Amino acid sequence: MKFSNVSLLILIIVAVASSNTPLTKDACIDCHRQLDEEQDVGEQILKNVFQDIHLQVGLSCADCHGGNPEAYDDEDEAMWDNPTFIGAISRRDQPEICGSCHSDPQFMRQYSASVQTDQVDQYWTSQHGKDLLNGNDKVATCTNCHGVHGIYPVKDPRSPVYPLNVPSTCAQCHNDAEYMSEFNIPTDQYYLYRTSVHGKALLDRQSLTAPACNDCHGNHGALPPDVVHIADICGTCHVNNSQLFQKSHLNNIFLKKGFGQCEACHGNHGVKKPSDEYLNWEHGAVCLQCHGNTTGNPKELADLFYHTIDSLKGQISLAEDLMGQAEQKGMEISDLYFPLEKSQKVLIQTRTSIHSFNKDLLLETVKDGFIATDEAIQGASLALTEFDQRRKWLFIFSLIITYLIVVVYFKIKDFDRRHRNKNK
Ligand code: HEC
Ligand code: HEC
Ligand code: HEC
Ligand code: HEC
Ligand code: HEC
Ligand code: HEC
Ligand code: HEC
Ligand code: HEC
Ligand code: HEC
Repeated sequence: MKFSNVSLLILIIVAVASSNTPLTKDACIDCHRQLDEEQDVGEQILKNVFQDIHLQVGLSCADCHGGNPEAYDDEDEAMWDNPTFIGAISRRDQPEICGSCHSDPQFMRQYSASVQTDQVDQYWTSQHGKDLLNGNDKVATCTNCHGVHGIYPVKDPRSPVYPLNVPSTCAQCHNDAEYMSEFNIPTDQYYLYRTSVHGKALLDRQSLTAPACNDCHGNHGALPPDVVHIADICGTCHVNNSQLFQKSHLNNIFLKKGFGQCEACHGNHGVKKPSDEYLNWEHGAVCLQCHGNTTGNPKELADLFYHTIDSLKGQISLAEDLMGQAEQKGMEISDLYFPLEKSQKVLIQTRTSIHSFNKDLLLETVKDGFIATDEAIQGASLALTEFDQRRKWLFIFSLIITYLIVVVYFKIKDFDRRHRNKNK
């Protein structure tokens, strides 16, 4: 046998051993694999079972289902006559059976030092868990979100709760109007989320910093967040916006009235990229939905933010324009990029500062932006003036050169003529 054939064989043996062969002999697996293979592919329930985390860590069928895994070739002894045999696990029994290990810190610590053991407790506090206790089988149970006979670690991209897969896992039910018809809740969450700034970042650009459903609802305690906690939930990522808003006087007003903090202006599932027009009183400011078209403090504040941001933007684009011209003319202006970047950063901070609803904070924030753009504008103008001066001197200089060339030319001609006359 050639070397390459040997190594190929070893590769195949290793691959088969790691994916398809159980480590120890197990009556449940032996018999059920055979039963499974007699089924059509679509009806085989154990296709992925050897990749299941439980089998991978050495657990097996009997650890979830009970029974005697050493009773080879005897169905009755293995299952039906064995008092520990549970059989198929009903949806209602799942939390208890999965929890027999997952809620036991001592047991779980043998496998992983960092594993959490609060899933079942959390689950019972969720709307899913409460409804299940009340006898409603349509809610999500452990296997709806994690699968069965092919349960993967949550960090494995094949897991239904891997961040990129969460929205479609929840959508199986929450996007199905017929399935959800007996419940009195909307079924537009996935649709709205899919086109939101968060959904596009997560699902189109695979940006794992963007929230999936569970980042706002929790992994196991899924409840609609009540209005008091929305700023905290959004604030796990948008720290500054949340802190400014929660310190503002508007937060107390919103809480008293039961408005959903961030949600009142940005929505929850359909959050869009905001623009400065959110503050444009003449053109659909978000404030108008509550303040109507009235004048007074809210309008004044919105106008002040809008016009301040607008004029800083104007200054920045003037600076960019002048710097572009200077660069095109070959002037060295690299030191102006520092103030330009600074003013762009301040522009972003100024947009965030709206969440304070405080004009003093606005003015304090924006000040450094105007100073920095000024520096860039002055610097670029100076470079352009310098270029014009250089060009003037270049013109005068080239006039002088031309004059000198003409003079030399006539001198040579004159010399030539005299030389020729002398030779005659
Ligand atoms: C000798 C073959 C054999 C062995 C060994 C065996 N089973 Fe079964 N098992 C069966 C058959 C046959 C059925 C019935 C299938 C059906 O009804 O479609 C069954 C049914 C089941 C069911 C579904 C029960 C229900 O109520 O619908 C579970 C769960 C199960 N077995 C688990 C196990 C476990 C765990 C072991 C090992 C402790 C095991 N089996 C050992 C043959 C076997
Ligand atoms: C981590 C726990 C777990 C392990 C390990 C496990 N099962 Fe199951 N099994 C379940 C749950 C939960 C259900 C119920 C699934 C459902 O309702 O969708 C189930 C259902 C079943 C059923 C009946 C389902 C049907 O579609 O008819 C059989 C048969 C079965 N398991 C056999 C096995 C065998 C054989 C093994 C070992 C190779 C095994 N199970 C390993 C949790 C487990
Ligand atoms: C509504 C969907 C859903 C249900 C129902 C659900 N889980 Fe989870 N589970 C998740 C999500 C989402 C994660 C976290 C994924 C991540 O960390 O990225 C998770 C994580 C886990 C983890 C990994 C450790 C951890 O806590 O982060 C375990 C173990 C787990 N779930 C077990 C269970 C058990 C047991 C049940 C049933 C009582 C259950 N889950 C019910 C969605 C669910
Ligand atoms: C016999 C004990 C036992 C039972 C019963 C059990 N599990 Fe597990 N489960 C474990 C162990 C051990 C691990 C591996 C933990 C590790 O290595 O992090 C695990 C891992 C997991 C993971 C991956 C966790 C991670 O770190 O990403 C999920 C999800 C999970 N189990 C869900 C379930 C579900 C759902 C059920 C019920 C259908 C269930 N388990 C029943 C013991 C059990
Ligand atoms: C198997 C179907 C199913 C899956 C999968 C599912 N849910 Fe649910 N969910 C339901 C049902 C049914 C309700 C009950 C509605 C009620 O009682 O008003 C519910 C309720 C909720 C509620 C409470 C809504 C309210 O106002 O009462 C939230 C929040 C929720 N689910 C979030 C999620 C998230 C997040 C996921 C994914 C990680 C998810 N669900 C996966 C079926 C599902
Ligand atoms: C950016 C945070 C965020 C994300 C991401 C998110 N939600 Fe929500 N969700 C909320 C908030 C906030 C509410 C509370 C609405 C209220 O009470 O006014 C809510 C409410 C709900 C409700 C209750 C019914 C309703 O529409 O008001 C369900 C069900 C729900 N979300 C499911 C989902 C599902 C499924 C996903 C993923 C496709 C998801 N959510 C993604 C923040 C989020
Ligand atoms: C898990 C972190 C996380 C949570 C929770 C979260 N966001 Fe975001 N959010 C992001 C990320 C990351 C982006 C940037 C997405 C991108 O790359 O386009 C973003 C973008 C945004 C934007 C657009 C910003 C811009 O300048 O384009 C708004 C508005 C927003 N989120 C509001 C909210 C609101 C309101 C909530 C709560 C209901 C919330 N976010 C919850 C991470 C989060
Ligand atoms: C009263 C209305 C209102 C509320 C409440 C509100 N915002 Fe905003 N938000 C705005 C406006 C207006 C803008 C646009 C500013 C601009 O672009 O000029 C904005 C912009 C943003 C941006 C993009 C700019 C940036 O700072 O990166 C994010 C992210 C954001 N908001 C998050 C939040 C979060 C998180 C909350 C809750 C803590 C919240 N907002 C509450 C009105 C609001
Ligand atoms: C969800 C409804 C809602 C939205 C959206 C909203 N506000 Fe208000 N705001 C209120 C309520 C209610 C009050 C207290 C009653 C009042 O003065 O009208 C208030 C009060 C104010 C006050 C204090 C008024 C005073 O006389 O001292 C200012 C300033 C203000 N809002 C500015 C804004 C700006 C700017 C926006 C848009 C970026 C905005 N609000 C968006 C509901 C809202």
